[in-house]
Amino acid sequence: MSVNSKLYEGKAKILYTTDDPEVLLADFKDDATAFNAQKRGSIQHKGKINCSISSQLFKQLEAIGIKTHFIDSPTPNQMRVKAVKILPLEVVIRNIAAGSLSQQTGLPVGTILKQPMVEFYYKNDQLGDPLLTRDRLYLLELATAEQVDAITHLALQINEFLKNFWQRCGITLVDFKLEFGLDSHQQLLLADEISPDTCRLWDTAEQDLNRRVMDKDRFRRDLGNVEDAYQEVLQRVLKAVESN
Ligand code: C5P
Repeated sequence: MSVNSKLYEGKAKILYTTDDPEVLLADFKDDATAFNAQKRGSIQHKGKINCSISSQLFKQLEAIGIKTHFIDSPTPNQMRVKAVKILPLEVVIRNIAAGSLSQQTGLPVGTILKQPMVEFYYKNDQLGDPLLTRDRLYLLELATAEQVDAITHLALQINEFLKNFWQRCGITLVDFKLEFGLDSHQQLLLADEISPDTCRLWDTAEQDLNRRVMDKDRFRRDLGNVEDAYQEVLQRVLKAVESN
């Protein structure tokens, strides 16, 4: 496979075209950003850690029938993916209150939600990725009602699988963000990544509110030991996959 030109550079990944128009190469970067890129930094080895974790999770999801953009991972920080048109939506699934949900509603961090919730945010850096209502989503024609229903169903299915998977790693899945895209046949595929950059992951055995954090909140909140936490997540994922 020959790599052609840079198609797109995002905050965490660079996408390259390949000789096959249906296939792109995603290069995972060590760059880290938070608060809509107002905070910038780098997490050593993050590219290969996140690429490896995402690859394992996409493989597991494919095995239970969830269609993803994942093809394979030719090198530790690169993923070959099916070319999709990304829907401009950030789909957030929450099991436990934290982050913007706690900030905006006053629900204490750590409150266990009676049932998982699925939220849609407008993927738009200029506007700061605002929370959408269904009406706003339709007003902006970001997706059809059928797509929103299909995404909601998939998001909840993925959440059930991931909650279980992370539990086997001794990790509590607090919340996470998914992105979806449409392939050339208008088929909906799970895209982007699933990693400590996009999930809130708490060490289940750890009671200390800061020490339990194993995700990008360590970077956002300057908690230190960011790379160690990411490495630990990867080791636990590999162990869980092996023991499957
Ligand atoms: O900030 P907030 O609490 O809304 O984030 C919910 C979840 O979505 C967190 O796991 C966060 O890491 C993820 N997220 C993300 N990319 C964004 C916004 C949120 O991965 N642009």
